[in-house]
Amino acid sequence: MSISTLKESDFATWSELWRKYLLHDGITNMPEQQYQGSFARIIDENGDIYGLVVRDPEDPTKILGLSHFVLQPSVRTEKPYAHMSDLFVDASARRKGYGRKLIMATAEAASQMGCSRLSWIMEKNNEEAKKLYEMVAGPSTHDLYRMPL
Ligand SMILES: CC(C)(COP(=O)(O)OP(=O)(O)OC[C@H]1O[C@@H](n2cnc3c(N)ncnc32)[C@H](O)[C@@H]1OP(=O)(O)O)[C@@H](O)C(=O)NCCC(=O)NCCS
Repeated sequence: MSISTLKESDFATWSELWRKYLLHDGITNMPEQQYQGSFARIIDENGDIYGLVVRDPEDPTKILGLSHFVLQPSVRTEKPYAHMSDLFVDASARRKGYGRKLIMATAEAASQMGCSRLSWIMEKNNEEAKKLYEMVAGPSTHDLYRMPL
């Protein structure tokens, strides 16, 4: 198993896994150009979205897990914060430690970029994710509010 950034040739396997995550979140109508646009921003070395993936040990062209993250300026510190917007491991590859490794690799990458904190959001009642999250970051102390605009 290896964790790495994405490259241009990963589009098909990345979008297949990303589609599964969106489906898990009940999203089935994402326009095709959004997949292409987001992927282009991830692989662009000057892009504003970052991605890490777990590659299949048997076939490194196949992706089994992904994390996406962005940097956020902070009013409280000079250094930015990092926010992990997505974490997903294919159902066929769960409970092998990949989710945990992806979080730790994301934290390391964000730290290397000068970030002083990594945050992420969990949907209420996602007990499997909660167990993992509390293991790596301790209990959550905040609630999130969303106002559609
Ligand atoms: C949450 C998710 C990323 C975890 O990925 P994973 O690779 O299976 O997690 P890991 O193997 O690293 O698990 C680490 C630990 O977390 C806990 N854990 C993970 N999944 C669990 C489950 N289904 N039930 C109970 N505990 C679980 C366990 O303590 C596990 O350690 P163990 O296997 O030694 O007991 C994965 O289940 C997933 O993609 N779920 C669907 C999408 C999702 O919910 N994403 C998070 C959105 S907030």
